[in-house]
Amino acid sequence: MAQEVRGVVAPGKNEPVRLETILVPDPGPGEAVVKIQACGVCHTDLHYKQGGITDEFPFLLGHEAAGVVESVGDGVTDVAPGDFVILNWRAVCGACRACLRGRPQYCFDTHNARQKMTLKDGTELTPALGIGAFADKTLVASGQCTKVDPEVSPAVAGLLGCGVMAGIGAAINTGGVGRGDSVAVIGCGGVGNAAVVGARLAGASRIVAVDIDDRKLDTAKSMGATHTVNSRTTDPVEVIRELTGGFGADVVIEAVGRPETYRQAFYARDLAGTVVLVGVPTPEMTLELPLLDVFGRGGALKSSWYGDCLPSRDFPMLIDLHQQGRIDLGAFVTETIGIGDVEQAFTRMHAGDVLRSVVVL
Ligand code: APR
Ligand code: ZN
Ligand code: ZN
Repeated sequence: MAQEVRGVVAPGKNEPVRLETILVPDPGPGEAVVKIQACGVCHTDLHYKQGGITDEFPFLLGHEAAGVVESVGDGVTDVAPGDFVILNWRAVCGACRACLRGRPQYCFDTHNARQKMTLKDGTELTPALGIGAFADKTLVASGQCTKVDPEVSPAVAGLLGCGVMAGIGAAINTGGVGRGDSVAVIGCGGVGNAAVVGARLAGASRIVAVDIDDRKLDTAKSMGATHTVNSRTTDPVEVIRELTGGFGADVVIEAVGRPETYRQAFYARDLAGTVVLVGVPTPEMTLELPLLDVFGRGGALKSSWYGDCLPSRDFPMLIDLHQQGRIDLGAFVTETIGIGDVEQAFTRMHAGDVLRSVVVL
């Protein structure tokens, strides 16, 4: 029988979110119901609420979550009730061309739960990124559950489900940062600072953090940046070149998602280096670059979607490294809040006051 729980719903474009009673069906074949313990507030949740992603209102928000599997449907063998899991928004299919050629992180047929969660009156909810975890419980495809060490704090674990994984993965998976590389990160919010952590973990010897907000630069320093540049007052391309013997960085990670910061990334990179775009642009943005520079400067211009992560490979590994003290994912949790505080958390996020607010249930 469907269960009644609390969930944070965005009812319509730019309307404040509401705490509603929602109905979570019993898991069908291939599905799991997860009791949510913590869920981070991500920009994508705000974009959903603003109508910037789709117009399939009402949305059940929240997607950076960790919790315990409560029940599973027929045929589920990968997780069982009682497992501590991080939810991911890319449950790979195992059968598409990308999966079959051994690159499941590029799967083009990822899936979510088939059944719908609803409001009490039967209105179907669209779960954010197929998750919907600002709720006591949520229904997902079992492949969206990745088991990790249950000793870790849920508030920390959940963050790997989206932004922090995107940033770390942009450095270690997409950028392929290696020992001794020079790295620049443009935009040091949650994603950019995670890229700093990833670069440090991969052994980068020089990590230059760029932002227009000194608070973010201070955080980047504490996360492992060796140099910081406020690009409101200083040309970051010049400084990055100076700090790298006049060459530019081996890997430049753009974690803002704007044409002007992309251009900085492009020119701050050494010949044959790599630019990684992990910031998400909006539909009206365009980029103009001299094609001769694109050719002449060589190297690679890459995009990083979810940090090119493979949850089954990357989540347990990063949680283990955190538990061993080799990375500090806890530093991304600026504050823990209640399920009724999401609207205020959006305001603080918009003002740049937090890396992450995390709803703890
Ligand atoms: N130059 C440098 N930094 C900038 C600039 C700029 N022109 N404009 C904004 N920033 C900085 C902000 O000061 C902030 O620290 O970029 C950072 C963005 O961080 P957040 O707003 O916290 O966003 P985050 O969650 O890190 O996501 C970054 O990735 O997932 C996407 O949609 C997300 O596009 C966004 C990006
Ligand atoms: Zn696939
Ligand atoms: Zn997210």
